[in-house]
Amino acid sequence: MILTLFTALLAVTAARQLSSSLPTAHRRRGIDASVLCGKTDSEKEGPFTISLNEFGGGNATDGSQCIQATAQNDSTISWTTNWTWTGGDSVKSFSNVNLDTAVGRQIRDITNLPATFEWTYDIDNSSIANVAYELITSTSVDGEDINEILIWLASFNAQPISSTVDEQGNPEPVTRNINAHGSTWNLFVGSNGTSSVFSFLPTNGTIESFHSDLNVFVKFLILNNGLDQSHVLKAVQAGTEVTSGSGTLSV
Ligand SMILES: *[C@@H]1O[C@H](CO)[C@@H](O)[C@H](O)[C@H]1NC(C)=O
Ligand SMILES: *[C@@H]1O[C@H](CO)[C@@H](O)[C@H](O)[C@H]1NC(C)=O
Ligand SMILES: *[C@@H]1O[C@H](CO)[C@@H](O)[C@H](O)[C@H]1NC(C)=O
Ligand SMILES: *[C@@H]1O[C@H](CO)[C@@H](O)[C@H](O)[C@H]1NC(C)=O
Ligand SMILES: *[C@@H]1O[C@H](CO)[C@@H](O)[C@H](O)[C@H]1NC(C)=O
Ligand SMILES: *[C@@H]1O[C@H](CO)[C@@H](O)[C@H](O)[C@H]1NC(C)=O
Repeated sequence: MILTLFTALLAVTAARQLSSSLPTAHRRRGIDASVLCGKTDSEKEGPFTISLNEFGGGNATDGSQCIQATAQNDSTISWTTNWTWTGGDSVKSFSNVNLDTAVGRQIRDITNLPATFEWTYDIDNSSIANVAYELITSTSVDGEDINEILIWLASFNAQPISSTVDEQGNPEPVTRNINAHGSTWNLFVGSNGTSSVFSFLPTNGTIESFHSDLNVFVKFLILNNGLDQSHVLKAVQAGTEVTSGSGTLSV
């Protein structure tokens, strides 16, 4: 079971250089490379599901977004999303890839969640967006979202949800300088109305190539923040939360 999880989780992986070195015919085998632009569009690709997940698009004055899988095998998927949004302060979308085979286990039983995420972003410098993993826990796979764990790899003018702010009104971490994976992270905690949101942000910049065990972050929250370990993983996703501007993420 652990072996399965391991193999499967390598999956939230983006092997841009590797896949582009394969012959095109081989690389595209078994993939549905259609461009999805409908706000709730999603598509199964082997063990993955790619989703546009435009949950806040109604909040924009104008804009649109598309997502496309470009290569996939049992452990890796490459994909891209392009977008342009204006108006509204809130997040318009979290376009992402979910690893379907990773969900459904109680988090207390999980020993590791190895994952890889390599990406590039062609983005307007005034845009507001992030690049992040999002893990969702609940009482069951079909239950309401209860806790969301975000591991940010980049912020483009974006700030985490936080119930505490400093004197300047900026989000204030509940824990600073957590060491993990050769980086240090600040943890922010808040609620978005439906879920408790735990956000780890790297203190020293953008991580364009992440190869690590996501379970380290889960375990941290169990030990230090009372994360309920009887809950199950409902989603393990890698993607981009987008608020405004324009950009193209390639994974
Ligand atoms: C999937 O593709 C990636 C990148 O091309 C490669 O590194 C990996 O070995 C492949 N895995 C399988 C199971 O074929
Ligand atoms: C995204 O790219 C597709 C083509 O792949 C194009 O049809 C669509 O208009 C683009 N959307 C945005 C918002 O750039
Ligand atoms: C965005 O939508 C939320 C409700 O979904 C609303 O409360 C908020 O005022 C909207 N923000 C803007 C800037 O339109
Ligand atoms: C974006 O780039 C322009 C030109 O390089 C610069 O003038 C502007 O200050 C930048 N804005 C931000 C938010 O970084
Ligand atoms: C972040 O900073 C730490 C120490 O301050 C350093 O060891 C590490 O390499 C840095 N990581 C990145 C991704 O720059
Ligand atoms: C906040 O709530 C919505 C549901 O309204 C959810 O889909 C979204 O992923 C949540 N999380 C964050 C971090 O905004």
